[in-house]
Amino acid sequence: MCGIIGIIGENSVSDDLIKSLERLEYRGYDSAGIATVYNGRMDRRRANGKLKNLISLIHNSPLKGSTGIGHTRWATHGRPTERNAHPHMNEDVSVVHNGIIENFRELRSELEKAGCIFYTETDTETIAHMISYYIRHGAGIVDAVGRALKRLKGTFALGIIFSTDEDIMIAARRGSPLAIGHGNTAMYIGSDAIALAPFTSAVTYLEEGDWAVISSKNAIIRDSNDEVVQRSVTALEVCNFQMGKGNHRHYMHKEIHEQPEVISRTLSNYIDKAELKLHPFDIGVDLSTIDRIIISGCGTSFYSSLVGRYWIERYACIPVEVDFSSELRYREPPLSPNSLALFISQSGETADTLAALRYFKAKHQTVASVVNVHTSTIARESNVVIPTLAGSEVGVASTKAFTCQLSAIACFCLMLAKSQKNVTKFNEREIISGLVDAPNLIAAMLSDERPFNNLAYELAKASNVLYLGRGINCPVALEGALKLKEVSYIHAEGYPAGELKHGPIALVDEKIPVIVLAPKDKLFNKTVSNMQEIASRGGRIVFVSDANSDEAGCELLAHLPIPKAHPCVMPLLCAVSVQLIAYHTAVIMGTDIDQPRNLAKSVTVE
Ligand code: G6P
Repeated sequence: MCGIIGIIGENSVSDDLIKSLERLEYRGYDSAGIATVYNGRMDRRRANGKLKNLISLIHNSPLKGSTGIGHTRWATHGRPTERNAHPHMNEDVSVVHNGIIENFRELRSELEKAGCIFYTETDTETIAHMISYYIRHGAGIVDAVGRALKRLKGTFALGIIFSTDEDIMIAARRGSPLAIGHGNTAMYIGSDAIALAPFTSAVTYLEEGDWAVISSKNAIIRDSNDEVVQRSVTALEVCNFQMGKGNHRHYMHKEIHEQPEVISRTLSNYIDKAELKLHPFDIGVDLSTIDRIIISGCGTSFYSSLVGRYWIERYACIPVEVDFSSELRYREPPLSPNSLALFISQSGETADTLAALRYFKAKHQTVASVVNVHTSTIARESNVVIPTLAGSEVGVASTKAFTCQLSAIACFCLMLAKSQKNVTKFNEREIISGLVDAPNLIAAMLSDERPFNNLAYELAKASNVLYLGRGINCPVALEGALKLKEVSYIHAEGYPAGELKHGPIALVDEKIPVIVLAPKDKLFNKTVSNMQEIASRGGRIVFVSDANSDEAGCELLAHLPIPKAHPCVMPLLCAVSVQLIAYHTAVIMGTDIDQPRNLAKSVTVE
């Protein structure tokens, strides 16, 4: 989603602003721009589409100045045009903004009555005019921003510069993350640490409601009551910011291939691999008293929540419900004092997930989260954090974060089972041994992608694809369909295999590929029966299984073998299959794999 960078220093900032915007591209955007102040005058360059358009604009018409802000915009209010691109500017101020100003219509009409002329359809332009209005009515720069912030409803991360004072940049945060970077001769603001990583490893994360007046030497931070506060400076984990694609054509491919390593790293956080047992754990909450769990997330994280339900109900014997974060709080579910709300998020910044988390916190529920970005808002606002160690995920379509979520949730499930004294009901050592084997099995799957590449030529001809799975692999079928849609733009739907006959079978004809996740578990024979139903109607089956192809009992479009493994590890192996299916199909379709159209990596608006 939108990205912010701001720099205030001694040297020209234009190139560094662009360098940082390049690192923010992964978040997803449809236009970009920068503004600088130089000799009492502000100027900006903005361009629709990819960053290369902005770069060529700046190449032809450079911007001077040692204070500047930059933005990648994912349109919310107003079409993705150059006119609506940030920074928004008038003679006094220039503003970049992430988030949504909910009361912008009333503020805009108030300002229009006062004589302000608006040029865009955006909510952000209102902020620029509001600050300017106060400056023109006698307020100093800092006071004007303070007053304007109090008028805004909704969410924002803001970077603001001023034509009358090159030595000030103001940052503000409510609902959308923003960090300050401390350099030797310059100070920075960034919507995420990745934007700041080329310049500094010393970062201060603004708290909710904070705003900061920044010079090239320091930052004075105020809280939402305008009191000056001290916020700590933390060191960026440098290893998280090795952003290159290496030998891979796309980040998505690189991240699929990183899975053996990052799953192993995540498991090591919870499991003693030599002894095949959990590390001693004290996560600050008495897990033995938990009698109900509500799990929630968005997109891919929603599907890992669904897999988690199967594990936790089965091994920890605790009832679990799962809902989309965007829906959960509107249901107003009845809560019990001993329930645990568990939120799953790669970024830890997804607005829907954060809003659901805050709803449960306000109801005095214990809140835990499985997050990949350990400094994120969701991590900071949770009572318990169950980290994944996937490293930075750049491809918009989540891959390694998903399998690391599954790994962490599986370990958390074992902690729950142990605390509830349910470990006698299953063989804990056997499950741990299965999990420990997973990285090697995945590495073996990744050693030969030819079957996926061959299949991709067939899938690329299809307009619709069905994904089926049963039991714990059903959510992975849903994730498979999501992955194909996201990166190849081919319509796909995932269903429980047994549900096919209740409607979706009407879609089956000789044109539709049906990808069936069918590990040879106790549900295998039932899934095979469903495949017969498809085959007898001409459907073309892709059999993802550790069984032999002749066990499918019908003609196959393809057999994508997965290694034999403990049933509880199968979701991880099936996940890798569906990722490779989606990736190779997208390569043939020639789509923008790492930044698919209309999608954002971290969705910070509801
Ligand atoms: C966006 C991304 C998805 C991701 C979802 C949840 O929609 O495009 O890939 O699964 O957000 O993100 P989170 O960071 O909360 O896991």
